Amino acid sequence: MTSFIKQRMTQPPPYIPFLDEVLLTEAQIQERVTELGQVISQHYAGSQNLLLVCILKGGVLFLTDLMRHITVPHTIDFMAVTSYGEGARASSGQVRILMDLAQSINGRDVLLVEDIVDSGNTLSYIINQLKARHPHSLSICTLLSKPSRREVEIPVDFLGFEIEDKFVFGYGLDLDERFRNMPFIGVVKREALG
Ligand code: PRP
Repeated sequence: MTSFIKQRMTQPPPYIPFLDEVLLTEAQIQERVTELGQVISQHYAGSQNLLLVCILKGGVLFLTDLMRHITVPHTIDFMAVTSYGEGARASSGQVRILMDLAQSINGRDVLLVEDIVDSGNTLSYIINQLKARHPHSLSICTLLSKPSRREVEIPVDFLGFEIEDKFVFGYGLDLDERFRNMPFIGVVKREALG
């Protein structure tokens, strides 16, 4: 047995000190992602130019799982944005593009894939930017939504789970940039938030 495997078997996972409770298990997430993939496939049946746009970095795990369940031919692209100001999430309302799409979306069916809609400021900004590029359609798919935190109305077309206002991490969502690889979504311990 390699030392790496031995270490994995004897040491607790590194997220344990930060984990208050599991909010959504891996099985719950995978079941919902499968359902979303089926609904999205039905919605876009016949589309010749579907483009999934993943908002980095949080949306990465969701995108890669979701696209396995989308039966309509499609391509993928990525955008990275950042917010000015304080806060662990992009809640300041001031957003700018760090990395733009590599291709034109003119005339295409664009589906934005996000991990979470919180204040709504990030998606509001992205929607405005992308609408100006004249896609054929522009829809939103988010795994999580915190409606109680909303500052801007966001028309979510495909939703995984509505959640309460708790700081969550895992399955793409980070805690100080770490633990995005957790296959489930957990609530962060209060003490760990400082
Ligand atoms: C998170 C999340 C959304 C945004 C939602 O991104 O991925 O993009 O915040 O917040 P909002 O609705 O209040 O705008 P974050 O800025 O943490 O970047 P990351 O995805 O790279 O972790």
